[in-house]
Amino acid sequence: MPSVRTNPLQGPILLLGSTGQLGATLNPLLHEIGETIATDRSLLDFANPEKISGFVRERKPSVIVNAAAYTAVDKAESETEVARAVNAGAPAALGRAARESGALFIHYSTDYVFDGSKSSAYRESDPVNPLNAYGRTKAEGEAAIQISGCKHLIFRTSWVYSERGANFLLTMLRLARQRDELRIVNDQIGAPTSTHSLARATADFIRKYMRGEWSDDKSGIYHMTDTGSTTWFGFAAAIFQRASRILGSRAPRLRPITTAEYPTPARRPLNSRLNCEKLRATFGISMPRWEHSLDEVLHALAAHESVSAG
Ligand SMILES: NC(=O)c1ccc[n+]([C@@H]2O[C@H](COP(=O)([O-])OP(=O)(O)OC[C@H]3O[C@@H](n4cnc5c(N)ncnc54)[C@H](OP(=O)(O)O)[C@@H]3O)[C@@H](O)[C@H]2O)c1
Repeated sequence: MPSVRTNPLQGPILLLGSTGQLGATLNPLLHEIGETIATDRSLLDFANPEKISGFVRERKPSVIVNAAAYTAVDKAESETEVARAVNAGAPAALGRAARESGALFIHYSTDYVFDGSKSSAYRESDPVNPLNAYGRTKAEGEAAIQISGCKHLIFRTSWVYSERGANFLLTMLRLARQRDELRIVNDQIGAPTSTHSLARATADFIRKYMRGEWSDDKSGIYHMTDTGSTTWFGFAAAIFQRASRILGSRAPRLRPITTAEYPTPARRPLNSRLNCEKLRATFGISMPRWEHSLDEVLHALAAHESVSAG
């Protein structure tokens, strides 16, 4: 008798946080793969995690992609309980719901789970030691998902930006219209990562999962950032160099400063670099150079501006 290949993706993909910068980029790519239910805060508020189980049960997803998070790093210092509900309570409830239904749970976490004291790029096996409340709540979320016993992938990423939302790229472009000189921190190192890279890698992975390229021992944490690294100052310099060519925007003078010269409510790690070798070795997924991704996002902004102007 011919063997019948069962499709592990029989239910829809459930996307949470579809209004965020990553969620909005994921949304069209997931729809290309198959039926996708995209939800936002108005349908499911993560501040009330007790509603999550029933919400998931009703929709019977095969894959849950959680792009929702409390991401206001400085505000999390004073709004820690809300941040904890969204970044730890809700992922814990999603993990339990995924285990009950057999769904695969894809979640995103952050370089801010580390204290930045390592001299080389962090590996998944390095111990976490967050410096701020946001990082602590994200680390708690990671642990809760792992304890839940569901099939899961936790993609840790860093310095996320896109052509929409609140991010460093758009802040730089806005400040350049208002000021002649910008002071930018030059002693924190990391990998700027475009939502397009994250969304494509996630979609690639889901396609592999649908083809049956999965075993439960692959559950775990994977580092997923664009390739290469720079400082915030280096990122800003690259933004303005490319933006003057692609968007015709003016470049302000940039002055490098230290973290100590730019005090913020939340402490940030000096070294945010994440080693992504496990992602490549396990799933064959390689991430693009960060400069390449920056060009892509600036071209998307240019296309958007020409549509708005037209
Ligand atoms: N941004 C970064 O630099 C960065 C760095 C490392 C890791 N990450 C991680 O990457 C993932 C995606 O981040 P992002 O930058 O795309 O975030 P984002 O743009 O801030 O979007 C966050 C999303 O979460 C939703 N959300 C917030 N509070 C909620 C609540 N109480 N109930 C339901 N939804 C809620 C937001 O909804 P509303 O639109 O209604 O507010 C929005 O859709 C997150 O897991 C984040 O921790 C981000």
